[in-house]
Amino acid sequence: MQIKTVGVLGCGLMGSGIAQVSAASGYKTVVREVDEILLKKGIGRIEKFLADGVAKGKVTADARDRTLGNLSGTTTFEALKDCDLVIEAIVENLEQKTETYAALEPLVEPHTILLSNTSSLCITELAAATKRPDRFGGLHFFNPVPLMKLVEVIRALTTSDETYQTAFEFAQSLGKEPITAPDRPGFIVNRLLVPYLLDAIRAYENGLGTLEDIDKGMKLGCGYPMGPFTLLDFVGLDTTYYIANIMFEEFREPLYAPPPLLKRMVLAGRLGRKAGRGFYSY
Ligand code: CAA
Ligand code: NAD
Repeated sequence: MQIKTVGVLGCGLMGSGIAQVSAASGYKTVVREVDEILLKKGIGRIEKFLADGVAKGKVTADARDRTLGNLSGTTTFEALKDCDLVIEAIVENLEQKTETYAALEPLVEPHTILLSNTSSLCITELAAATKRPDRFGGLHFFNPVPLMKLVEVIRALTTSDETYQTAFEFAQSLGKEPITAPDRPGFIVNRLLVPYLLDAIRAYENGLGTLEDIDKGMKLGCGYPMGPFTLLDFVGLDTTYYIANIMFEEFREPLYAPPPLLKRMVLAGRLGRKAGRGFYSY
């Protein structure tokens, strides 16, 4: 199926990155946020990334202008009515995602494909909540979207071959390297990454070392680009907490259980870099 116009739901950390790479790849892209303030913040994140890219000599002024020219922001669902493909990247919550699909679906064309960027929710359950379970799938990007090459493509039990193929080829058209991942909580990457991050919090709570030393240990000792606490702050502690709960609910294994400190940090609003404070201050 030929994709010309792409919709993105949510212009937070992930939605802004997805909208950016879509617009940069030549698709007319419409990104929706819940209000003007959050929309402005999200578009501002894209503008800053592109401006930094120009300053670093990684993005040409022409490419920046073309990307911004392909991009528009909205707070309505109606503005997405001509989209051939819509990627949802809103908060990691089943009810909020399904309510959003219910608001969007009557407005888009029957052929429109809906893909979720969820980190851990069941793709088959999300698909079943729509009236297009065959035109629904998972397209899981990694943070920061413009720099991370991987995309996981996930089939619901109901996803048609055509939808899966379109999603896979769309990821390739963004310059990404897609892999096929199963519809299991965390897919491939988060299944391995999330227990590691949760274990780092538990180890810290048990006095293993300072935040700085644990981060330095994993960065310099294992060659990871970021230590676990820098990465937790980068991903968002709220998002990590939601993912852990979803994974724990399905597997009922202690390694997925959110550590008490994580819950308390979320309750205190220390959500990581995006909130100005998480394990570190920004
Ligand atoms: N425009 C264009 N290019 C840019 C850029 C910009 N604004 N900013 C940086 N770049 C380029 C740089 O020029 C550099 O390119 P080269 O390698 O060709 O030199 C590259 O991007 C890396 O940039 P930096 O050197 O400035 O930054 P860094 O080396 O510190 O890397 C990072 C930054 C890529 C984020 C790295 O720290 C990293 O990989 N961190 C780990 C991220 C990670 O694990 N993400 C996954 C999170 S989990 C997830 O996403 C799934 C989930 O569901 C929760
Ligand atoms: P975020 O908190 O940065 O952004 C979510 C945005 O969605 C918020 O700005 C919120 O206002 C907006 N939103 C909520 N309801 C909406 C609606 N109905 N329509 C439009 N916008 C709405 O979260 P994020 O980190 O961007 O995560 C978004 C999704 O991507 C989640 O499902 C998450 O699990 C997944 N994900 C996150 C990461 C990560 O590293 N943070 C990586 C991969 C996937």
